[in-house]
Amino acid sequence: MLASLFAMMSMATNAQTYLDPNAPLEERVKDALSRMTLHEKVNILHAQSKFTSAGVPRLGIRQLNMDDGPHGVREELEWNTWSPAKWTNDSIVAFPSLTCLASTWNRELSEAYGDAVSEEFAFRGKDIMLGPGANIARTPLNGRAFEYMGEDPYLAGEMLVPYIKAAQANGVACCLKHFVLNDQEIDRFTVNVNVSERALHEIYLSPFKRAVEKANIWTIMGSYNLWKNVHCCHNDELLNGILKKDWNWDGALVSDWGGTTNTWEAAMGGLDIEMGTYTDGKLRESEFGYEHYYLANPFEKLLKEGKVPMSVLDDKASRVLRTIFRTAMNPNKVIGSQCSEAHYEACRQIAEEGIVMLKNQKNILPIDATQYKKILVVGDNATRSLTKGGGSSELKSLRDISPLEALQTLYGDKIDYAQGYYAGRSIYDRVDAIDPAKQAELNAEALQKAQGSDLIIFVGGLNKNHRQDCENGDRESYDLSYGQNELISQLAKIQKNIIVVMFGGNPYSMPWLNQVSALTHCWYLGSESGTALANVLCGKVCPSGKLPITFAEKYEDYPYVKYGPEAYPGVNKQVHYKEDIFVGYRHFATNNVTPRFPFGFGLSYTTFSCSKPVAAKSGNEVTITVTVSNTGAVAGKEVVQVYAQSPKGELPRPIKELKGFAKTKLLQPGESQTLSITIPVEELRHFNDSQHDWTLISGDYTFHVGTSVNDIFGKATVNL
Ligand code: GLC
Repeated sequence: MLASLFAMMSMATNAQTYLDPNAPLEERVKDALSRMTLHEKVNILHAQSKFTSAGVPRLGIRQLNMDDGPHGVREELEWNTWSPAKWTNDSIVAFPSLTCLASTWNRELSEAYGDAVSEEFAFRGKDIMLGPGANIARTPLNGRAFEYMGEDPYLAGEMLVPYIKAAQANGVACCLKHFVLNDQEIDRFTVNVNVSERALHEIYLSPFKRAVEKANIWTIMGSYNLWKNVHCCHNDELLNGILKKDWNWDGALVSDWGGTTNTWEAAMGGLDIEMGTYTDGKLRESEFGYEHYYLANPFEKLLKEGKVPMSVLDDKASRVLRTIFRTAMNPNKVIGSQCSEAHYEACRQIAEEGIVMLKNQKNILPIDATQYKKILVVGDNATRSLTKGGGSSELKSLRDISPLEALQTLYGDKIDYAQGYYAGRSIYDRVDAIDPAKQAELNAEALQKAQGSDLIIFVGGLNKNHRQDCENGDRESYDLSYGQNELISQLAKIQKNIIVVMFGGNPYSMPWLNQVSALTHCWYLGSESGTALANVLCGKVCPSGKLPITFAEKYEDYPYVKYGPEAYPGVNKQVHYKEDIFVGYRHFATNNVTPRFPFGFGLSYTTFSCSKPVAAKSGNEVTITVTVSNTGAVAGKEVVQVYAQSPKGELPRPIKELKGFAKTKLLQPGESQTLSITIPVEELRHFNDSQHDWTLISGDYTFHVGTSVNDIFGKATVNL
């Protein structure tokens, strides 16, 4: 009896718990680790191809399949090169850019986005999606701002959480990037960022911390740049200190592609999965095999020589195994789907709610087509596919409805078109490489056609060409390129009924603003771009987007500019964030600099009235209650924003900081909705550099409640 009991027990210990999908996660990790050889543990810590890291074939432990990017699944590349694999079944839904998602201020749409995009990743057999992005828009020139969530860490964090939770509920890991301080593309591989501890915590780390604490993000991608002169992909203080110890994070830190630079730091600096080494993350191939990666043979050698404790190896391997069991070997991972109408519906809704109407003179919008005989559409972005380009986030989309197509569908032969300007076709066409003669010819054609039109819709902006919102390069000017500003002014002189539609991930100068009747900013809208735009322009959808980035009147108004090149893009690979915590509206509002369009601003086709805000403190929370009523003639949505002003303390504080927001449902004319916005008291703390910790100043807190940072309709004060 006893013998058979022992036999069963020994059987039990040999039972492969790690393969039991119902076993507790940590049991699976511990069991798998106990069965792996030293080499097998090392082998799962680095790439085995361009976008996969190894599993343990002998034990039936799956590899990790990763892919870009935050807006959809990148086209399949060859196993070992940056070249397309030329698959015929990898065309996908291109979702709107993340800055567009942030502009919706709609947490429910963020959840819908994460759910839909992760279903496309799962269907393509991916376990980790390399996104979303959470770097901060401190400069309007940043080449990759379109992949991020704007200038405010609270809005960015709050709009990331539902996306991440929904994606990971489908068994697909998000890989939040780029951790941390990758806020420019110039010198991205080599620049060292100098920033105060306070700004680091209050602004740049904040969205990542929120994703760890509220969404349990499973993987995070280290950034190329340096902090304290150490590469962030293996920065001990940042990764082992702040991320893994202080924040108690149990996930796997993935390097950016080519972000790993030496073995010792990779071993001891908190890196768990080394990817893309010896490449530049876009074009250059590695001249070395995967066994030469820093965390491959060189690391194994250090372990065998006893120079690195085995505990370091086991911690790394456990984090990778945990990721494998959360995704690739997760029994609840969805099969997913690709290019379903549900995905296109989500894509369209996010696009429609992300479009920001900035000007609407004499209610020229929505367009009443009966008023016009000839509507001239002008601009390269009316036909260009904006799902391509931009770098690693570029997509091969099955559907890509252009603005011109959608407007032709809507208005038929009333629509005429002129390209107006030439913007190059490759993402590598330099802006100054465009032929002036060709520009002049296209300009002339547009101006000539404008003579015969009674409405002009100009569709321009940035286009994800190199230095036009693209990885590996920042914009060279705050002005629009390709002569767009001059063309818009000339068109407006011919036809005063002119609506400007701009695409792009960043603000820009608008010397023509007073000459045009209307302006909408559309970020990048994805596969349903034209449909979403047309639905808003024709009034089928009432615009409700709000800016997640301050649009300054002129470039010099951005807070860092007055400090010179040291503050951006840096001198001798050293950049100093001299504006400190006063990024974006924190600077404009505190220093009374009037922006062209403020943070949180966006117009509607209807009007709303809001009740006097009521603030109540209960326990460790403050709740702000407001009733919003639709006082206009069409259904619409409003976003109520709560900005906290803290009592004076020994440290300078921004006069306003976004600490809460809520978007109404679609309110019919005459309909009201009461919103309760809850703010945990701990969110009102500030980081004290001398104490190296968060502290709450006691006193009166004033909550400015409005529909943008400058459009405040009421205040409420609470003593804390
Ligand atoms: C790129 C990017 C990163 C991307 C990775 C893989 O260089 O910085 O965002 O996910 O490499 O393409």
